[in-house]
Amino acid sequence: MNLNVLILPGDGIGTEVTREAVRVLERVAGKFKHKLVLKEGLLGGIAIHKTGTPFPAETERLAVQVDATLMGAVGLPEFDNAPPDKRPEKGLLGIRQTLGVYANLRPVRTYRALIDSSPLKNERVEGTDMIIVRELTGGIYYGTPRGITTDNGQERGTNTMTYTRSEIERVTRMALTLAQNRRKHVTSVDKSNVLETSQLWRKVVTEVAAKEFPDVTVEHMLVDNCAMQLVLNPKRFDVVLTENMFGDILSDEGAVLAGSIGMLPSASIGDQLASGAWVGLYEPVHGSAPDIAGQDKANPLGAIGSAAAMLEYSFGLKEEAAAVSAAMEKVLNSGNVTADLRPQGKPATTSEVGQAVCDAI
Ligand code: IPM
Ligand code: MG
Repeated sequence: MNLNVLILPGDGIGTEVTREAVRVLERVAGKFKHKLVLKEGLLGGIAIHKTGTPFPAETERLAVQVDATLMGAVGLPEFDNAPPDKRPEKGLLGIRQTLGVYANLRPVRTYRALIDSSPLKNERVEGTDMIIVRELTGGIYYGTPRGITTDNGQERGTNTMTYTRSEIERVTRMALTLAQNRRKHVTSVDKSNVLETSQLWRKVVTEVAAKEFPDVTVEHMLVDNCAMQLVLNPKRFDVVLTENMFGDILSDEGAVLAGSIGMLPSASIGDQLASGAWVGLYEPVHGSAPDIAGQDKANPLGAIGSAAAMLEYSFGLKEEAAAVSAAMEKVLNSGNVTADLRPQGKPATTSEVGQAVCDAI
């Protein structure tokens, strides 16, 4: 199979972890006889430094050409006080919107070797295996009107949370389809006791489920309660479906349950292409971590897991994805891991972990 992939290393540790993920992709392509065609582009702070904008036209051109995109991370401290259009994060929001990747999948699972790194007691967290499906191209992140205005001498900040029926329907279908291949249980999370967007959300999810997915059980949960249940009883969740901002918040909470945010991959999926591949943007959940950038210390497993997700979701290569996951698990069990996972002996470097995963494939 031809795998046309755009690599956007981005900022901070993004470059280091992406390098390892690419090595893993090359190893998989070699072993399973696929043709990997890589292009590289600029996104985020590095793009602002080199071109003046966080999402350059050239990156946009490449992104719509390829089948899938693998991203590192965006964000640099020198832009902390920059206006919204000149911030690295704007590049990420831009590429998500351009690609139309409306469903963000963030799996949260425990690994036996990491169980002691979780802030929760072992018996509470052990066996957790959920996937958070976050709506990614709508809601308050993109709604208008927005901005900071001044009326009557007083500054006012405004953002708008808005959802259409079709935006809710398509992400619901994605989540419920995923659930059909798992434990067939979906928790839809909203704030319908206060917000109209959530009332519509709940109604549409209920209707789609009843009409199209009679085999999936759907429950509804308020977001504040969900934040609490995630720490009280994470094992109760299978698929969690929620809107953009709630998903942003809950997925960070989910991330730490598994031990280290450095472990978590994510997949953002849009529509199916004529080639049969699904449009996808893959990125580790961790950020650019400028404090440890350039030190060969960062955990590349979130990025490598994101590459595995790309093989599975964009290209339908389940066996290849499973080979990467098995290799990651083997490396975790060997204890040859980076400092964030608090290994017994000397911590491994980013490149050593990447090499170990390649060797295990
Ligand atoms: C995430 C990040 C982004 C988001 C930021 C960097 C814009 O927090 O992917 O969760 O809020 O979506
Ligand atoms: Mg976030």
